[in-house]
Amino acid sequence: MMMAGLLSCGESKYETGSFQVIPLPQEITETTGAQPFIVRPSTTICYPEGNEKMERTARFLAGYIREVTGTQVKVGTRAGSNCIQLSLDATLSHPESYELTVTKDGVQLKGATEAAVFLGTQTLYKALPITEGNALGALPAGTVKDEPRFAYRGFMIDVGRHFFSVDYLKELIDVMALHNINHFHWHLTEDQGWRIEIKKYPKLTEIGATRKETITAPGANEYDGTPVSGFYTQEEAREIVRYAADRFITVIPEIDLPGHMMAALASYPELGCTGGPYEIPTRFGVFDEVLCGGNGQTLQFAKDVLNEIMDIFPSPYIHIGGDECPKVRWEKCPTCQAKIRELGLKSTRDHSKENQLQVWFMSEVEKEINARGRKMMGWDEILEGNPEPSVTVMAWTSPKASILSAQLGHPTIVTPIHYLYFSNPWINRIMGEASVERVYNFEPVADTLTLDQRKNIIGAQGCIWTEWTKDSVKMEWQMMPRIDALSELQWTQPDKKDFRQFLQRLQHQLKLYELKGWNYKSLNEADSLKYKQFKNMPL
Ligand code: ACM
Ligand code: ZN
Repeated sequence: MMMAGLLSCGESKYETGSFQVIPLPQEITETTGAQPFIVRPSTTICYPEGNEKMERTARFLAGYIREVTGTQVKVGTRAGSNCIQLSLDATLSHPESYELTVTKDGVQLKGATEAAVFLGTQTLYKALPITEGNALGALPAGTVKDEPRFAYRGFMIDVGRHFFSVDYLKELIDVMALHNINHFHWHLTEDQGWRIEIKKYPKLTEIGATRKETITAPGANEYDGTPVSGFYTQEEAREIVRYAADRFITVIPEIDLPGHMMAALASYPELGCTGGPYEIPTRFGVFDEVLCGGNGQTLQFAKDVLNEIMDIFPSPYIHIGGDECPKVRWEKCPTCQAKIRELGLKSTRDHSKENQLQVWFMSEVEKEINARGRKMMGWDEILEGNPEPSVTVMAWTSPKASILSAQLGHPTIVTPIHYLYFSNPWINRIMGEASVERVYNFEPVADTLTLDQRKNIIGAQGCIWTEWTKDSVKMEWQMMPRIDALSELQWTQPDKKDFRQFLQRLQHQLKLYELKGWNYKSLNEADSLKYKQFKNMPL
C-alpha cells in the first residue's frame, strides 16, 4: 500500500508515504503522475499568527516529522511556498472536518476548528514514511477530505486495580491521539484502590490508596505479598487534563458509586450499611459491601467528592459508575429501608425497591452535577431503575444493552465486554488476526434500531480494566493493535471498511509502534505465546 519507492530529487533522496492510514480517511484522491511534496529542513509549518492552539499543533507536527523522518522543519507564521499551511475554514460543516491538499509546492491543512486541524496533523504523522534520517519524507500529491463517523470516540483506563504514573498516562494519551480518539475515560476509583486526592476526605488516599497485596491469578489461593499503592494529587490530575486538552482530548473522570467503593469504605466505614470495619480487597470481583443508599451523610460524601472532581475536570460529562452494585446489604439495612419507605418506593415487576433507591441516590447526585452545567454518565445497570432520558449510558454488559438504551432515548456509548474490553481474559486468548478482526467487524449501531434511535448511539469506546494489567508491557500488548481496529469503527464510515486492506495499512502502523518502543501484540501467534510464557501472567 505504501508508495515507498526511494527516489532522488537533485541532491536528496526521498521516500513517499501514503494517505492509506488508520483510521482510514473518508475520501482520498491521489493525483496520478504528480510530484509529491518533499519535507525538507527549509520547509515551514505555518500557523495563523496569534492562535496559540494552532501554534502548539504546528510544533507537535514538527516533532512528528522529526521523529519519523529525522528532518527538523521550521515553525512560523509566514505563508508562501514550501509550507505546510495550517488554517481554519468555517465553511467546513462538521466541527471535526479537515481537508488536506498536497502539491509539490506545499501542503494546505484546513480544519473547521483547531481540533479538526489537530486531527489532520495525525493523518500527516501517519502518512509520512518512516525513514529515520536515511531519506527525506514526502507526501503524495492529492487531497484528503475527512470527518468522523461518531462524535464520541473513547478509551477507558482503570487505574484503581493497578496504578499508572502521570508520565505513563501521558504516553497512553499520545496513543489515543494517534487514533483520533477524543475522550479519555479515567476510571479513578475502585474497590482495590482510591486514586484521586479529595481534600475534604484525606483518608481516601491516606488509607484507600494502598492495598497490602494482590491475588496471583483468577481463582488462586495465593497472594503476592506486594503492596499496591499510588494516587494522583489534584495538581497532577489537572496536568493530565491540560496534556489531553492540548491534544483535543476531553478527560472524563469516573467516581464509581454506590458499588465498587470498598477502598472508600475502608477509609470511612460510617459510609457503609454495617459500619464496618472494612478492608481493601486483595482479590477481584463484585463485593456485597457498598455505600449505604439511605444515609444522608453518604449522599453528602458523594456530592462533596463530585464537587471537588468538577473543580478539577472541566469535562461536560461526569461519570458516576452505577455498575455491579449488589443490594444484599440494602435489603437488610434499617437506614436504607427507612429511606425506601420515606420515598414511597415499591417493587414492581421490572424494578426492585432497592434498585429504585439506587436510581434515587444517583438522581440526587445528578442534580449536583447538572447544577454545575455538567451531564451525568453511568454504566448500563442504571437502566434497571428508569433514569431520566438525559443520562448518557455507557452500555457494557452486551450489545443488547446499547439497543435498549438507545430505544429508551438515552445518548448511548457502545462498549460491549465481548468486543471492546481489551483486558477480558478470554478475549485475550484469541490470538493473531482473529483478535483484531473481532473488534474490527463489530458494528456499534444495530440495524434493529429505527433511524431516530440510531442517532442516540453517539459513539463507541474501548476499555482496559487492570486486574491483571500490572505494567506497561501488558497494557500496550492489550491495547495495540486492537485500538487500530477500534479507531476505524469509531471514525470510518462502515462502507469504507475492509479488514484485508486494514491489515495491509496496519503494517506501517506497527512500524510506528516499533519506532515508539510500544509493546504491541504481534499478529504472529508464536510471538504472542512467547509473551505468555515470558510474563507467566493470566491473559
Ligand atoms: C464494568 O465492567 N463493570 C463496567
Ligand atoms: Zn444502608
